Amino acid sequence: MAAQPTIRPYDDAAVADAAALIRAGGIVAVPTETVYGLAADATEAAAVARIYAAKGRPSFNPLIVHVPDLAAAETIAVFDNAARALAHRWWPGPLTLVLPLRRAAGIAALVTAGLDTIALRVPAHRAMQALLRASGRPLAAPSANASNTISPTRAAHVAASLGARVPLILDDGPSAAGLESTIVGRGAILRPGPITAEQLGLPLAAPGGEITAPGQLKTHYAPAKPLRLEAVQAAPDEWLIGFGPVVGDDTLSAAGDPVEAAARLFDALHRADASARAAIAVAPVPERGIGAAINDRLRRAAHR
Ligand code: TXA
Ligand code: MG
Repeated sequence: MAAQPTIRPYDDAAVADAAALIRAGGIVAVPTETVYGLAADATEAAAVARIYAAKGRPSFNPLIVHVPDLAAAETIAVFDNAARALAHRWWPGPLTLVLPLRRAAGIAALVTAGLDTIALRVPAHRAMQALLRASGRPLAAPSANASNTISPTRAAHVAASLGARVPLILDDGPSAAGLESTIVGRGAILRPGPITAEQLGLPLAAPGGEITAPGQLKTHYAPAKPLRLEAVQAAPDEWLIGFGPVVGDDTLSAAGDPVEAAARLFDALHRADASARAAIAVAPVPERGIGAAINDRLRRAAHR
């Protein structure tokens, strides 16, 4: 029989253990009022990479970052009056705001997929609130299910979907909303959710505003320079991003660890873009596991 995750009922001791896992760079499944989330420290790229590895996500979408209150949110993003009014009215609750990122906040580039905006939410659920306060970290958290499966609204759904890929699930009963949060950005609704267009008085954004499917690349960071894949050696005008045995100007992971590579990917692309070389080359990354997401992202960056 496959190994099973530990499911712990919500209480102070379980939250303390979950917070210790988060501070050690691990992942924890935690209920929110929308769906169960798979949480990691948003300031640690390697921890965020573990979310993608556990979900088996085939591509990197920017993730929502959860914070305990508006004051914490304002340290990470720039709020204008309209955003602040929405936050006052709807937080804590199932509303996510996409806002300009404060780079100094130290959010890992993998969280925002290299964008200069960030999606932030203050959840109302007592378990997520307790974990945020006990860990003291902003928590990146997509839904706690394997990629391309239905979002989980119970601890048992998480266990069935992720199994031992998640070490600990906090169980606090079924999620009240059962539907991911409403996302608002650029004065429009990017993803419909529990808080409706009528309640918000905002229009639905044109299709493509939300990054749900592969191909919606405009919302990802794309290097300005031409990119060559599967490179084992750099041409004179190329900045080579290595992996494993391919030693470059930079490396995704000298040890050939795909989780480390995922964690470093967007930073490495930014460095390559900023280099004095005219073009970028990237070493081959094996397709298995989270490598599929890395290669998906690289292929998109190469085909512009
Ligand atoms: O209810 C929820 O929001 C759940 C619970 C766990 O909180 N979380 C959730 O997270 O659904 P996630 O990471 O799966 O949602 C990510 C979505 C992306 O598909 C994208 O549409 C949007 O958030 N998003 C994130 N950052 C964005 C950005 N900078 N610009 C536009 N959209 C962004
Ligand atoms: Mg999801």
